[in-house]
Amino acid sequence: MAYIDSILKESRVFYPSHEFSRNAHIKSMAEYSKIYKKSIEKPEAFWAEKAEQLEWFRKWDIVLRNDMGFFKWFEGGYLNACYNCLDRIIKSGKRDKIAFIWEPETGESEKYTYGQLLKEVCKFANALKKSGIKKGDVVEMYLPMIPELPISMLACARIGSIHSVVFAGFSSDALKDRVQDSKAELLITADGSFRNGKIIPLKDNADAALKDCPTIRKVIVVKRANNKVEMTNERDYWWHELIGSKDVSDVCEPESMHSEDSLFILYTSGTTGKSKGILHTQAGYLLFAYQTFKWIFDVKENDIYFCTADIGWITGHSYIVYGPLSNGATVVMYEGSPTFPKPDRFWRIIEKHKATIFYTAPTAIRALAKEGDDLPNNCNLNSLRLLGTVGEPINPEAWMWYYNVVGKKRCPIVDTWWQTETGGILITPLPGATPLKPGSAAKPFFGIVADVLREDGSKANANEGGYLVIKNPWPGMLRTIWNDPQRYRHTYFEKFGVYLTGDSAKIDEDGYFWIMGRIDDVIKVAGHRIGSAEVESSLVSHEAVAEAAVASFPHEIKGQAIYAFVVLKKNFKKSEELKEKLKQHVAQHVGPIAKPDKIQFADDLPKTRSGKIMRRILKAIAEGSKGYGNIMTLAEPSIVEALAKNRVA
Ligand code: WT7
Repeated sequence: MAYIDSILKESRVFYPSHEFSRNAHIKSMAEYSKIYKKSIEKPEAFWAEKAEQLEWFRKWDIVLRNDMGFFKWFEGGYLNACYNCLDRIIKSGKRDKIAFIWEPETGESEKYTYGQLLKEVCKFANALKKSGIKKGDVVEMYLPMIPELPISMLACARIGSIHSVVFAGFSSDALKDRVQDSKAELLITADGSFRNGKIIPLKDNADAALKDCPTIRKVIVVKRANNKVEMTNERDYWWHELIGSKDVSDVCEPESMHSEDSLFILYTSGTTGKSKGILHTQAGYLLFAYQTFKWIFDVKENDIYFCTADIGWITGHSYIVYGPLSNGATVVMYEGSPTFPKPDRFWRIIEKHKATIFYTAPTAIRALAKEGDDLPNNCNLNSLRLLGTVGEPINPEAWMWYYNVVGKKRCPIVDTWWQTETGGILITPLPGATPLKPGSAAKPFFGIVADVLREDGSKANANEGGYLVIKNPWPGMLRTIWNDPQRYRHTYFEKFGVYLTGDSAKIDEDGYFWIMGRIDDVIKVAGHRIGSAEVESSLVSHEAVAEAAVASFPHEIKGQAIYAFVVLKKNFKKSEELKEKLKQHVAQHVGPIAKPDKIQFADDLPKTRSGKIMRRILKAIAEGSKGYGNIMTLAEPSIVEALAKNRVA
């Protein structure tokens, strides 16, 4: 793979400026090493000291407990995450500080101070209560990047209900699966959302999904797009009418939540067809989002922080909502597409709001770099002081472009490695301390013991690839898979007895981590996690398809893209139209991001004698490589040659 080749040759190192280091929270590698040592020798003392910075209704009794493989943090303690993100910040004198700057795709931006945000959250929290939502109930959100999304999440946190956000780019089928699994009682959606100037009919999608979701009693609809929608009597209510009513107060007492009460469920793809409901709880998650945001983004009083992620993903949860707000930061959130109206939109937003910290994904960097240097060069990006990336490995070329053209060689880049399951960043540079190697996520954050293991569980040598694992618990880790504790144990702990990330990586002679990508059947398309099995079962659900297997191949912009091998049923004819139909079928069934880039019709798939599909061979074919390895164990070795010959270039 090109990425692996280029990192092997990578030897450049970039140091933070003296000025950056002098003002940073963590100022040198010596300081990092000292705190790191303490944090892993006495993790409980380390995290307890950090937890003191939050406001507790009751202090915890015990910092960490391993309950038969299920980790519990700060048991006996009570707090409220919303209170810590809003009331605590307001009490520190920041009522009038801007919390959110919301940039719609078209139209004027809107600002919410911490004081205003609290009022909106309280009003909606009261509306939720009036709708019958209680502590412990699950509330599903299917919303675009509009202020009502963080407002509804914080309102849930305030009254102790559990939020579960479904990315608005997902299809109605995907929404249905998630609502059914979470057993949500209420759904919040919008009449539409804007993307590239077009309206996406969210409410219609939701209506389709809800036909098979009997647990949903009420639907709250935000009027965003003035899109005509059907409102079902006694089920559907307009957001503005609910909070507009005179008897809805803008004061709402925060519920006192136990540290290990559920805060949210967020679904992500795994190696089987069914997506996993990752459960995060109150105190540990909040503390981890708070502390990582503070030190990794080195946030200061006057920073304007712009994160381009969607709140439908974990990045938005931890680093648009909980991390920044609990630090009292000012966050820019953008509703629309990076290329609307032109591919300079991010640079325009940075210029307009004088953003100082910018956090985005490698896929966006590659796509925008392709548009040339003029677009960023024609904007004033002088306000920037720190850049970040997340979601997939960043190739050194894209890193260099980001560093030179966007950061003008002044801004450190934090290449942050983490996952939905980890709650927050685990491997990353610290911007004032860590010398940067383009393409490396650098070193573990405080309290994190990361390692690379061989198949037999022994430690890999320097520069030897292997399984990336985390050997100790941390406060932000997932607590379980919703409704499926067995799967939690099996997926993450069965192989080595320590947390298995699903990624492969290597550690170089300086102790820097180089993440090489997923080692399981998860494919990262433009940074989004897609399970091969999800795409396969979607394909097989089409009437023409007898069997399907998908693999990934390297893609210039998306990092990886999906290549599907499809065996048709007897009476269906191979045609380009059918390929197009199948692509649309997956887009509709799973979501546009899961659409295969290439489909190859095959007469058969390579299988072992016991009938197992040999994925390594399919991957080699998809990548256009001849390195299939040994094919003699196949039931029908000749299949491979036929497949390779008909490969879709
Ligand atoms: C997977 C997790 C964490 C927020 C967004 C993704 C890949 C993530 C990096 C990075 C290389 C990365 C891994 C990981 N990944 N960050 N800096 N370098 N790979 O969350 O959807 O749960 O995906 O994203 O493969 O396992 P997610």
